Amino acid sequence: MAKPILVANWKNHPSSQDEVHALLKDLIRKKLLYKRLSVFIAPPLAYLESVADRAGKFAQLAAQDITELPKGTYTGVVTNDILKSFGVKLAIVGHSERRALGESSLVVSEKVKAALKSGIAPLVCVGEKTRDTDGEHFEFLRMQIKESLAGLSKQSVTSVLIAYEPSWAIGKSAKDAMPAGELAQSVIFIKKVLTDLYGRKVAESIPILYGGSVDPSNAGEIMREGGVKGLLVGRASLKAKSFEEIALSLLQK
Ligand code: PGA
Repeated sequence: MAKPILVANWKNHPSSQDEVHALLKDLIRKKLLYKRLSVFIAPPLAYLESVADRAGKFAQLAAQDITELPKGTYTGVVTNDILKSFGVKLAIVGHSERRALGESSLVVSEKVKAALKSGIAPLVCVGEKTRDTDGEHFEFLRMQIKESLAGLSKQSVTSVLIAYEPSWAIGKSAKDAMPAGELAQSVIFIKKVLTDLYGRKVAESIPILYGGSVDPSNAGEIMREGGVKGLLVGRASLKAKSFEEIALSLLQK
């Protein structure tokens, strides 16, 4: 059985190198716990080296985004070969906060291909902006998955992970996270879309994670009842204690 996956999306936090060091120092205390999972930390790029140096023994490095640009000269861009040289193994692609800045599913699909080409596993974020009673959000989700994975072969899609993160559930209080029962339905739907695109065997091999207001109070239920293989955690990954409690929930599934 593959280990449960726990991805820390630090976004643009902590706000100083000293705070990063303090957080990593606290996280290291539980390194034996984290080694029982597949833990990834996606820090702001400026902290990649600090995280690589201090967390390399219990977590793998992830990027919060990746460029679709081919080899070339681009002022201000951190290219994928640089990410790779730091040991980045996974990249969050198409996060709703980037999509809100105008990133289309077409660009997401280019980024997914660029990640695969660099040997970095893309964690492709999908999720509806709102829910409606007649289920139209499922159609939105279907199109978003199809377009974000456009052009991938059956073989290459086996290196992709999906993060289901409905935008309406991100950055809220824990009680506003998606109820586990509804999550389970969405996960079944995503698997069906993937099955239609790539066949059942390939679809079953693609890990689906949930993200959106995960914290220690809801992580256990989400893992037990939501049908997911792991979690993508924002705010609650910035406190060593809450991250530890979430990690324990993943093991108790
Ligand atoms: P949150 O963020 O856990 O703070 O809701 C999750 C995310 O945006 O990936």
